[in-house]
Amino acid sequence: MSEKLIELAKRRGIFWPSYEIYGGVAGLYDIGPIGVRIKNKIVELWRKFFVYDNSDFVVEVETPVITPYKVLEASGHVENFTDPIVECTKCHKIYRADHLIEEIAKINVEGLSPSELDRIIREKGIKCPACGGELSEVRLFNLLFSTNIGPYSGNQGFLRPETAQGMFTSFKRVYEAFRQKLPIGIAQVGRVARNEISPRQGLIRMREFTIMELEFFFDPESNVNPPLEKFGNMKLNILRGEDKVKGEKPKEYSIQELLEEKIVLNPWMLYWMATATKFVSALGINSYYFEEKLPHERAHYSKQTFDQIAVIGEEKVEISGHAYRTDYDLSRHMKYSGQDMTIFKKYESPKIIKKKVVVINKDKLNKEDKEFVKNLMTFINSKRPEEIEELINKGEKVDGKNIGDYVKILEREEKVVGEKIIPHVVEPSFGVERCLYLTLLNAYREKDNRIILSLPKYIAPYEVAVFPLLEKEELIKKAKEVYEIVREKFDAIFDDSGSIGKRYARADEIGIPYSITIDPQTLADNTITIRDRDSWQQIRVSINEIISALDRLFKGEEFNKVGKLINNENE
Ligand code: ATP
Ligand code: GLY
Repeated sequence: MSEKLIELAKRRGIFWPSYEIYGGVAGLYDIGPIGVRIKNKIVELWRKFFVYDNSDFVVEVETPVITPYKVLEASGHVENFTDPIVECTKCHKIYRADHLIEEIAKINVEGLSPSELDRIIREKGIKCPACGGELSEVRLFNLLFSTNIGPYSGNQGFLRPETAQGMFTSFKRVYEAFRQKLPIGIAQVGRVARNEISPRQGLIRMREFTIMELEFFFDPESNVNPPLEKFGNMKLNILRGEDKVKGEKPKEYSIQELLEEKIVLNPWMLYWMATATKFVSALGINSYYFEEKLPHERAHYSKQTFDQIAVIGEEKVEISGHAYRTDYDLSRHMKYSGQDMTIFKKYESPKIIKKKVVVINKDKLNKEDKEFVKNLMTFINSKRPEEIEELINKGEKVDGKNIGDYVKILEREEKVVGEKIIPHVVEPSFGVERCLYLTLLNAYREKDNRIILSLPKYIAPYEVAVFPLLEKEELIKKAKEVYEIVREKFDAIFDDSGSIGKRYARADEIGIPYSITIDPQTLADNTITIRDRDSWQQIRVSINEIISALDRLFKGEEFNKVGKLINNENE
């Protein structure tokens, strides 16, 4: 089916390989005029679910694609953003080692080390699929695209592999500018680049793509809970790590169960997984589950990860990743930049804490020589009061003199209004082109040897097409008048080229839900026909009621309730 979709996509201007006139480059795709319209609507739908519906605590930013070396060194990508590769010793073709084993031996080897993959290749006798040659040792390949920033060869940078680091590095600014309160989500939609090894699966594995990410910062100790009640009785399909190992299938869990049994470690992570469920359903994809990654399958920054897997026919593809990144990223940036990435958490009411303090007997110390004072102070300054107390009790000496004679440790009560903390982060992350591709694949239908893209109405490239039945001047004129009325309120397109049958076919193939036709009867009684993309049924409606009829259809009212069904002889 994907070949048919790819053929349709090229023919109808949805997507095609980039730089085709030069032979193309694997993993790079142009999104065409129809594709851009659908893609933009998918992004807007994501914004609705993840940003606008949560605007009390989520904001959106834009940060650069070009990223200094230091940032991705701090994030761990320079060291860990790798995939295993093997090379054929005869024809020198390069493969992604884990995918090659998975394809040939049909076993899951995600996250295994190069030496473990090597062992499996030798054990299973896997050879180069292209020429049968012997395979080299497995080694790791870093997927970052590197570049120079400015004309100085020493100033290395990368194209970002995720937008997330832009949100971590700007976290303090957004926090201070926005609400100075946790939780806070920072969202971003932007281009990323990953030097994928031999990408072959169309828009599923690209070397440059658009990602929609949300970094959600919260205090893990806080009792501010996510509004999970808004999901009602929603059930989530989850394949737990322990069940995956046993070869079991995903199971349904209520939100309550997932929370109480700590199947999902963090309630906010669950909140975004439930949001992702609603979003993916809104794309028209109704079969999916969340697969928990095993520790060795997780990215270096994650304490728990679930991949949301869309199931379309035989295909199972990750559509989003949900990672509990903890305070990993902010802590690393704090360490590498030397900047304070903490926030001040104010307690609801001040806490009285008992604190040990060092009290020095100055009168006694003033009578001692300078050398001893210096040595004693160095000793004290390098230790915590608790440690000094223990040493005093043990009779510790400096320059042969008892410390206890000069220093006392007292306990004092102190009023504390808050503390510095590094927020924790959960991250839902979607690839836009993957969403586009999976949505298209899911919407692809064939009927009477014709193709219909049965897209949800709100992500169709156009909402309405307007056609004159025949290429006659008075019909074209009237059709243009109707088009002007319709486009005031709806995303409409006018088309008067070719036969009406061809125009219906074109509209179906790009998924336009409704087509309006102006025919000779229109000139007589001011009515038009509305045709439904999926059923090919038609109703007749007065031009005066066209907007209200379309409104009712877009609200989901039944087609034959909105107007009188008529015979359609032009299919
Ligand atoms: P995979 O295991 O398929 O390589 P990943 O686990 O590396 O993906 P993430 O880092 O979690 O992917 O990326 C988040 C999302 O970005 C994915 O769920 C997917 O929708 C999308 N994505 C990742 N890699 C690609 C790619 N090469 N081309 C298109 N989309 C991608
Ligand atoms: N209403 C025009 C048609 O039948 O196609």
